[in-house]
Amino acid sequence: MATKITKAVIPAAGLGTRFLPATKAMPKEMLPVVDKPAIQYVVEEAVAAGLTDVLMITGRNKNALENHFDRMTELESTLQQKGDTDRLSKVEFSNDLADMHYVRQGDPRGLGHAVLRAKMHVGHEPFAVLLGDDLIDDRDVLLSRMLEEQEGRNATIIALMEVDPAQSHMYGIATVEPTDDPDVVHITGLVEKPAQGTALSNLAIIGRYVLRPEIFEVLERTDPGKGGEIQLTDALQEMAENDIAGGVYGVVFRGRRYDTGDRLDYIKAIVQLAVERDDLGPDLRPWLQQFSATLD
Ligand code: UTP
Repeated sequence: MATKITKAVIPAAGLGTRFLPATKAMPKEMLPVVDKPAIQYVVEEAVAAGLTDVLMITGRNKNALENHFDRMTELESTLQQKGDTDRLSKVEFSNDLADMHYVRQGDPRGLGHAVLRAKMHVGHEPFAVLLGDDLIDDRDVLLSRMLEEQEGRNATIIALMEVDPAQSHMYGIATVEPTDDPDVVHITGLVEKPAQGTALSNLAIIGRYVLRPEIFEVLERTDPGKGGEIQLTDALQEMAENDIAGGVYGVVFRGRRYDTGDRLDYIKAIVQLAVERDDLGPDLRPWLQQFSATLD
């Protein structure tokens, strides 16, 4: 089902401190996952769900992001002259993927603050937010399901995933009650990164949201929370608690998600994706088996 929502917001202004020094002069969203920057997977996902108007929230090192989604005339004509059409099409693919827009965040004062920078562009309509830390396998459906739920319920919809309780202190955690749909829950409370052992459930927020424009008013009055940052989770908690603009629902995702937010998970994501690729998998798989046999 095609929905009326057309805008996606991709915050990419964080400092990426967990990846320093790689992220000293480059946003972490540009780190390659196999041979594509993480941000391109996310833009492709938005476009596949019908969201062709993409607003990127950029920080200090925005040039690499803008350049990636723009023409590279010199590179393109060199590949053309060489007759390397395969690589040329890879380079050209990201040029016209979406209608790209950019806005600066200035100081990275948190994810909530980054989303607030989208207010002018979004206007008074629902929109999606996608984070480059979470890659969703394109064989599994998530965003289009969330867009349909948003239209059906006219509420705020966030993506949730069951996580190991030992990891719940690293996520925003939701308290929920069931709905008549086994994949959808009504959210009664949200806590950003609860102290270890205090999480009230194992349902964690993953980086996909379909928000209503009322989020902007709530974010404007949201004080800095965890880490001194304006947290999107805190604004969503207020919307859930006070049932603002239809309240908050979660779509529980049971598909394949690759976490690229920290170094270990990033390495795992690359290996997982590469073994499944036709061009790399057949050589990588036996090498991995041999290599793992040398470990004890
Ligand atoms: P993270 O907290 O994972 O990103 O934010 P970070 O702060 O860059 O990472 P570390 O912890 O220092 O390594 C989740 C998403 O929100 C964006 C980030 O770019 C990332 O995509 N973000 C975060 C902003 O755009 N602005 C901010 O102020 C904070």
